Amino acid sequence: MALYSEKVMDHFRNPRNVGTIENADGVGEAGNSRCGDIMKIYLKIENDIVTDVKFETFGCGSAIASSSMATEMIMGKPLAEVLKLTNQAVTQALDGLPTNKLHCSVLAEEAVKAAVKDYFDRKNS
Ligand code: FES
Repeated sequence: MALYSEKVMDHFRNPRNVGTIENADGVGEAGNSRCGDIMKIYLKIENDIVTDVKFETFGCGSAIASSSMATEMIMGKPLAEVLKLTNQAVTQALDGLPTNKLHCSVLAEEAVKAAVKDYFDRKNS
């Protein structure tokens, strides 16, 4: 069996929603100190719904595939649903990741949640 699924390779080679959002409503960052990879998620939010999402990932192929998949999973979704995103769901949507690459999907969950938290922090300040 190939180490990486077709979906991982597809999202690694053709990542969706790469970039930044000027005047984003929420920005979240997550990093892993062991591998040094960093992921940043930008959200545009209207009426508590994600209307645009972009990511920048300085990291491995699995991290890029995870962030790309995570952006597709939260686009157009209400924040209550976005906050339920788990790294397991991202991994499953990618048809799996090698065990030593599971932490890459954790970055996606953490960065998305950090971006939503940033949105609420800004709203409440
Ligand atoms: Fe650390 Fe992939 S090796 S995020």
